[in-house]
Amino acid sequence: MCGIVGVTGTNKTVSILIDGLKRLEYRGYDSAGIYVNDQAGKDFLIKRAGRITNLEAALTPEVQGMAGIGHTRWATHGEPNQANAHPQYSADKRFYLVHNGVIENYKDLKEEYLSDVKFKSQTDTEVIVQLVDKFVTAYDMDTKAALLKVLRLISRDSSYAFALMDKEQPDTLYVAKNKSPLLVGIGKGYNMVGSDALSMLNETNEFMEIEDHELVIVQPDHVTIESFDNEEKHRDTFTVDMDPNAADKGAYPFYMLKEIDEQPAVMRRLVQEYLGANGKPQIDEKLLAQMQEADHLYIVGAGTSYHAGLVGARLFERFAQIPTSVHISSEFAYEQPLLSKKPFFIFLSQSGETADSREVLVHVNENKWPSLTITNVDKSTLSREATHTLLLYAGPEIAVASTKAYTAQVAVEAILAKALGEYLGLEAAQKFDVKDELAKVANGMQALVDSKDEIEAIASHALSKPRNAFYIGRGLDWSVSLEAALKLKEISYVQAEGFASGELKHGTIALIEKNTPVIGIITQSRTAGLTRSNLEETAARGANILTIASRHLAKEDDSIILPDVDEMISPLLSVVPAQLLAYYTSLGKGLDVDKPRNLAKSVTVQ
Ligand code: M6R
Repeated sequence: MCGIVGVTGTNKTVSILIDGLKRLEYRGYDSAGIYVNDQAGKDFLIKRAGRITNLEAALTPEVQGMAGIGHTRWATHGEPNQANAHPQYSADKRFYLVHNGVIENYKDLKEEYLSDVKFKSQTDTEVIVQLVDKFVTAYDMDTKAALLKVLRLISRDSSYAFALMDKEQPDTLYVAKNKSPLLVGIGKGYNMVGSDALSMLNETNEFMEIEDHELVIVQPDHVTIESFDNEEKHRDTFTVDMDPNAADKGAYPFYMLKEIDEQPAVMRRLVQEYLGANGKPQIDEKLLAQMQEADHLYIVGAGTSYHAGLVGARLFERFAQIPTSVHISSEFAYEQPLLSKKPFFIFLSQSGETADSREVLVHVNENKWPSLTITNVDKSTLSREATHTLLLYAGPEIAVASTKAYTAQVAVEAILAKALGEYLGLEAAQKFDVKDELAKVANGMQALVDSKDEIEAIASHALSKPRNAFYIGRGLDWSVSLEAALKLKEISYVQAEGFASGELKHGTIALIEKNTPVIGIITQSRTAGLTRSNLEETAARGANILTIASRHLAKEDDSIILPDVDEMISPLLSVVPAQLLAYYTSLGKGLDVDKPRNLAKSVTVQ
């Protein structure tokens, strides 16, 4: 949540900041701002409520500089207005700070040190910048010492990524992080910082990691990394192999539609990356060896990633025969279940930065339990800190509603389950031709995205007016129902729920009124008949029933027919019409599909 950029050493500062912020807008979009300094005596602070376009419209030609910092915000403290937008600045207008995260003890710091300071905003961030100023002016410290003192005063449970500028050293960015992501970008003659690599990829593909509790000083030709005890550290750079244009929308009206359409290609890429010519999974043996020693797999994730984990658990149990449970990371972090003797943890995260999941991983590492992160973002925090990483190869996912990351997560889980089962010599895994099945999935997805018009018609007919909707199913179809409902509610604001269809009669059926949409997902032979009966029960009470059914289980009146694949990986297909139904419902209501209200793509606060 919140995106940060900074650059020093170039007269392209303003355009680099704005371009970077646009690429980070997925992290928060309720207000934005920049501070730039021309190093010849002039500086500018421009902030606006709302989207980056509002900020851009406020820039006049004279706003130029050789260094600057920028921020796009997802409000945590104080409403999203101009005063609360970042950069926040000190009373004497010497220090400017952008911040991503939450300072848990900001009230205590304010009370203890800043009772004489008049605050302009309600943010925790302003406390930090005022505090730096206080230590510099009242205690006669230099900026570095003052910032270090402040960093030491911030409580350990706080999260932050900071970029600070001092008007009296206008070529220097002071940077630090704890829990929130931040990278240094190495340019030619100038250097940058950004919340992710993509925000700097137009300028460079060479990056340097920043670890928690380091102070990093970024100057045009030099980057210094120190511990809080002033010990200088050496850090190698790394390159990211990603096309900066991969994050462009092209001719699509919204990223979400582009990302739904990309799913067949993502499936083919995963086949290429993970399956050899003979269909044998190419998975690091060390990972398989560690997993086979486990007596229980714990899958941890949030939101859509949690839903992908629900499918994964069934795959691991079926093909590798290892008991597997799935946990919401924000729950697991604070209510840890009783664990087995030899646990192995699998973290699912598109961004690799979700704070709740990271909290669990920190605990896992403290206990030296082995772990794997399955993520779309190479070198992300969860990837760096887990024992192993498998990448999703889905390309940047920009829309807040996750689509291609979900299907990529399920596909990688299927490949890994097959690999592990084969490694364990299990027959079910040997018989599961994952390469062939994923090829069928890719073709099936293509057929579904090619029939968008029909799905758009269903959305406009059945989902545009109702306040509530239900997705129902059993087993894997229930798992997909949860994801389908999340998609619908987060972007169209229809209050949608996913239910185990057998549970309806135990309470929820009381909510069914005339024309309430109830969408049944039917891809499992064992439960198809039962789900159909449950649908009929809702129809008898006035529901408008719709069905998404696999071809081999389809009936004449079904609304959407899915091409056949192995039932164990049917979620890869049944989720696609649900994604499209959500997309067209949101579009029909004239909403901003990619940036739904109150949300941000990457949830880096707990
Ligand atoms: O980056 P992550 O996969 O860890 O993100 C987890 C959730 O915040 C995310 O899946 C969220 O639920 C999606 N926006 C839903 O579409």
